[in-house]
Amino acid sequence: MSKRILIVGSGFFGSVCARELADAGHHCQVIEKRDHIGGNCYTRYSEEADCHEHVYGAHIFHTNSQKIWDYVNRFASFNTYVNRVKAAHGNKIYSFPINLLTLHQLFGVNTPAEARSKVAADCVSNNNPKNMEEYCLATFGRTIYETFFYGYSLKQWNREPKDLPAAIARRVLIRYNFDDNYFADRFQGIPIGGYTAIFEKLLDGIQVDLGTDFFSDQENWIQKYDHVIFTGPIDAYFHRQFGALEYRSLRWETELLDKADAQGCAVVNHTDANIPYTRTYEHKHFDLAYTKDKTLLTKEYPLNWEPGKLEVYPVNTDKNQALYAQYSAAAQELAGKVTFGGRLGSYRYYDMHQVIGAALKTSADLIETWR
Ligand code: FDA
Repeated sequence: MSKRILIVGSGFFGSVCARELADAGHHCQVIEKRDHIGGNCYTRYSEEADCHEHVYGAHIFHTNSQKIWDYVNRFASFNTYVNRVKAAHGNKIYSFPINLLTLHQLFGVNTPAEARSKVAADCVSNNNPKNMEEYCLATFGRTIYETFFYGYSLKQWNREPKDLPAAIARRVLIRYNFDDNYFADRFQGIPIGGYTAIFEKLLDGIQVDLGTDFFSDQENWIQKYDHVIFTGPIDAYFHRQFGALEYRSLRWETELLDKADAQGCAVVNHTDANIPYTRTYEHKHFDLAYTKDKTLLTKEYPLNWEPGKLEVYPVNTDKNQALYAQYSAAAQELAGKVTFGGRLGSYRYYDMHQVIGAALKTSADLIETWR
């Protein structure tokens, strides 16, 4: 039987659910509190620089899943962009993620064997590292820790790495070859024409009300629809009754510069503690668009979060996970009426392909339940 479904949020989770449910014959309406669709993946075209600005930070699409890649390719074609990041420290630029070229730049080593023994000699022996600093010193050694991780993590989390969990650094790898492709996935690229065009296609034929905040009329919205899919912060839905989940936030400063190329690549990580921003993005390099002699450069600054600021990174502490478990249990009790999903609804750092995968699963489950 056809259901009337309200979808709160027009990011990938909400938009993919809207497409799938509408295609299955349900009536969907999307509300979005911002004045544009696409959530944090929103891009806008800059005529002066002839490229798409990633308004909420650099977004590189990558996935290992043929199914997800086929799905997004229904809505966009992708260019051949490969994320090859650089790290700036002191007055030097290094290849990043750490690979044999980085180790050559740092230590002057030329072969994998030389590099391994140099890194091993720099490590501080510790069989039970209890925090991020101890983990880095034991796994990568002091030079790598101080060059790439100390200042960057201090800025990103506003805490000394010795006060951060070791888990933050566990996914960092050193490659003892010259592979500098940031994402080791089979598929990667930037949508030609920007991300916003994907959302326009996903939401084609579906009513979308921009500038509409669910909380301005929460009870009324819930009553009017058979089912609600909520992609905002899960704690906000419950009016933070158990306490506020913590996030880190970001802000961006973008300038149109009077030069053809400012930094020679799309993404530079700035790892010095005394430089207040963590990354710079030069947007034309995402689009592989080199037609104009002007360029858009964005500086990304980490920010303490408080209600009203953009929720960006969930803070993965035991306290927050315990709090999330309480909200998740409350959400389970509403399961017949409200579904929570996406980055904020699940309080998880999700990449785009993971959000699309989760939205396809959620919508397939709902379609099956209502069949
Ligand atoms: P998203 O946050 O995009 O959408 C939620 C929407 O709900 C928003 O539009 C919001 O306004 C709306 N909303 C919330 N509350 C509401 C309310 N009360 N009423 C109405 N609307 C409401 N991923 C990747 O694969 N590669 C990458 O390179 C990056 N890079 C990256 C950089 C930065 C800086 C960030 C912050 C994130 C990334 N990501 C990424 C992750 C990517 O942004 C993320 O996976 C998706 O945007 C998540 O989509 P969602 O739909 O879950 O949330």
